[in-house]
Amino acid sequence: MDTLTIDIDAGTGYEVMVGPELLQRCGDIAARLVGPRRVAVITDETVEKLYLDPVVRSLTGAGFRVCTFSFLAGEGSKNIGTLSAILEFLAEEGLTRSDCLAALGGGVVGDLAGFAAGCYLRGIRYLQLPTTLLAAVDSSVGGKTAVNLRGGKNMAGLFLQPAAVLCDTGCLATLPPPVLADGLAEAIKTGILSGEELFSLLEGDAAGRLSEIIALSVRFKGDIVKADECEAGPRRILNLGHTVGHAIEKCSGYRITHGRAVAAGIAVIARAAVKLGCCSAVTAARIEKTLLENGLSVTVPFSADELTAAALGDKKRSGEEITLVLPRQIGDCFLWTIAVADLHSVIAAGLEVIR
Ligand SMILES: NC(=O)c1ccc[n+]([C@@H]2O[C@H](COP(=O)([O-])OP(=O)(O)OC[C@H]3O[C@@H](n4cnc5c(N)ncnc54)[C@H](O)[C@@H]3O)[C@@H](O)[C@H]2O)c1
Ligand SMILES: [Zn+2]
Repeated sequence: MDTLTIDIDAGTGYEVMVGPELLQRCGDIAARLVGPRRVAVITDETVEKLYLDPVVRSLTGAGFRVCTFSFLAGEGSKNIGTLSAILEFLAEEGLTRSDCLAALGGGVVGDLAGFAAGCYLRGIRYLQLPTTLLAAVDSSVGGKTAVNLRGGKNMAGLFLQPAAVLCDTGCLATLPPPVLADGLAEAIKTGILSGEELFSLLEGDAAGRLSEIIALSVRFKGDIVKADECEAGPRRILNLGHTVGHAIEKCSGYRITHGRAVAAGIAVIARAAVKLGCCSAVTAARIEKTLLENGLSVTVPFSADELTAAALGDKKRSGEEITLVLPRQIGDCFLWTIAVADLHSVIAAGLEVIR
């Protein structure tokens, strides 16, 4: 497959490249986009073993001076402690404002490295080198960065668009099936928001169509982010399944992964939408079937009480109201702002059918 380039018209504007062997070619591409300089590659210990060597070789060959930092893989590392360790590392290495970071890994690496890039010396540039499907279809694009706090998911963070995103589709071959499924959950979310073209690719053999799924997901997200970079309004639609999803992650002590939790969150909110009379049972059943076909679960091991308490600790609460995203049909979702006091009954309605 050839390399596709998608232009994202947000921030100063940047390219998302999707194709094979982009990690081996990242040095020359990065040199063209940001110029050869010092670069700190941030990664986790799993990705380090798999992909760090070719990245360092390619960057060094293109004239970059490279240093590397890796941390224990997994959501448990997405905290202030790891952010602080990255910032101290950058300072010890003496990176300056004209240097840059490269986030090599999944969404956890991207969210942490992007956050570090946004606050080190009040902001330096960074590249996203996504190695999971979730990072490719979602987290590497759009400039949201974050860490979790004790109070909840993604509670500290900032918006900073990357200088470029290089998505090497070859990396997807080494993903364990559950990690691939996490990415398919976000792609299904985007399919429900964007319409039949993407959603139908996720029905049946999605694994054979990943490049197309990535390209369509990135295009759709790019258009939304262009319209509302800092999530003041329409970008909130991308949170479909996330109020309940984040609550599931939090209730599980982050043992249930983000993608899996979002999948269950989508199922809950689709069922609630049926009960509320805004979505047909046929559409909700189609969504649930697609989630199951892609190795995801639609059941939730927590009660409405537990989920509501966790969700109301979430940053998406604003005053006494909370905004949910509800599906009407594939390609048609809407924002629905309700009183915080009504959230419990919506979650309970969504759980009733699927628990
Ligand atoms: N910033 C955003 O807009 C945004 C959007 C969606 C999700 N997120 C965040 O992304 C995170 C989830 O990302 P994720 O699912 O990529 O998790 P992750 O980064 O933890 O990666 C999952 C696991 O896969 C391993 N891995 C990564 N690439 C691999 C490869 N090519 N082969 C084999 N193993 C590999 C990792 O080491 C890790 O153990 C969550 O924290 C979520 O909140 C952010
Ligand atoms: Zn998500």
